[in-house]
Amino acid sequence: MDAIEVIRAKRDAGELTTGQIDWVIDAYTRGEVADEQMSALAMAILLNGMNRREIADWTQAMIRSGERMDWSGLDRATADKHSTGGVGDKITLPLAPVVAACGAYVPQLSGRGLGHTGGTLDKLESIPGWRASLSNGEMLGVLRSAGAVVCAAGSGLAPADKKLYALRDVTGTVESIPLIASSIMSKKIAEGTGALVLDVKVGSGAFMKTPETARELAETMVALGTDAGVRTVALLTAMDRPLGRTVGNALEVEESVEVLAGGGPEDVVELTVRLAQEMLEAAGISGKDPAKALVDGSAMDAWRRMVAAQGGDPDALLPRAAETLTVEVPESGVLTRLDAYAVGLAAWRLGAGRARKEDPVSFGAGVTLHAKPGDLVRAGQPLLTLHADETARFERALAALEGGYAVGTVSEDQLPLIIDRV
Ligand code: URA
Repeated sequence: MDAIEVIRAKRDAGELTTGQIDWVIDAYTRGEVADEQMSALAMAILLNGMNRREIADWTQAMIRSGERMDWSGLDRATADKHSTGGVGDKITLPLAPVVAACGAYVPQLSGRGLGHTGGTLDKLESIPGWRASLSNGEMLGVLRSAGAVVCAAGSGLAPADKKLYALRDVTGTVESIPLIASSIMSKKIAEGTGALVLDVKVGSGAFMKTPETARELAETMVALGTDAGVRTVALLTAMDRPLGRTVGNALEVEESVEVLAGGGPEDVVELTVRLAQEMLEAAGISGKDPAKALVDGSAMDAWRRMVAAQGGDPDALLPRAAETLTVEVPESGVLTRLDAYAVGLAAWRLGAGRARKEDPVSFGAGVTLHAKPGDLVRAGQPLLTLHADETARFERALAALEGGYAVGTVSEDQLPLIIDRV
């Protein structure tokens, strides 16, 4: 077999055979298929798609490119959540300890942010001492002692996806449902979780801009998980406005701790509780109330154990940016729009995100929201606080926010927080 034959087949909108898919993924992982050939194939897939059988084969081939973790020897069910990424999406931070407090083990391999969306590992790394890289043995130890572990995927897990995702990132081939679904699900299936809840974001701040495309992605991923023996469900949730009232690494950790202390913004609490219920149900655990675990201190205890087990100090002061700038409400009325993408881009330009994966992030940088769409606001009151290490960053952040918010006389329709369940 050779790469040109496989590329031509997909270029001409043909169906790839199982043999072709197995060969191309294996040869690419071993360096026998060159990056430029895989780029051409990824573009052909983006343009011509893959059917369910091809996507399943592609996913299985990526899983087989590396190790598959196995938690079946543990004394409790395992459950995990994956979000397709959004602005202010800190849900993993309160969710993992809440689900652990309700009796499941949560083994979560997470990623770093790229572009305008934040990454869970960047947020947790703002806690002094906290370590994202764990060996498989350490991961098991944290899981047993704290009930939940959130860490970076090791190099042995789906290495084909690691190479391919980096290539897609620089060749304009990220936005393909077959490639996104197989990329996410190969890692989650290889991670070995027994149950999986997918949070598929919809709106300007998400990959999927409409409920229709989000539903197609969700259905594809649910089918892949179910066929692989993982009890999988998906929620479609709103990402037309940021989640919660903070966007940025340490700022989001602070907000998550408020949620774990029984407070925090309504939307973050609602989504945390709903995802926790779905995870517990998929894991076969009944009779536990995640909302109660947030107020009775048991989720906070699990959080503190989880942070400490990975070297972090749960009582340490979090980094703060040196400079702040307040953006005021321009006129009195109803805040009709506060666009997730605009706020995410502003936070990124303030230093909260990275342009290339090797760049550092500023832990203190980001945006605090003083109002959310639908709120009554008065001219001159603070709308946003921008946080950055250097004042020079404010100008570009303000440019990102131009047209990103609006005040009107009547509230406009916005997406419900939880749009659908697949
Ligand atoms: N996240 C992933 O892990 N893969 C994708 O392709 C897109 C988002």
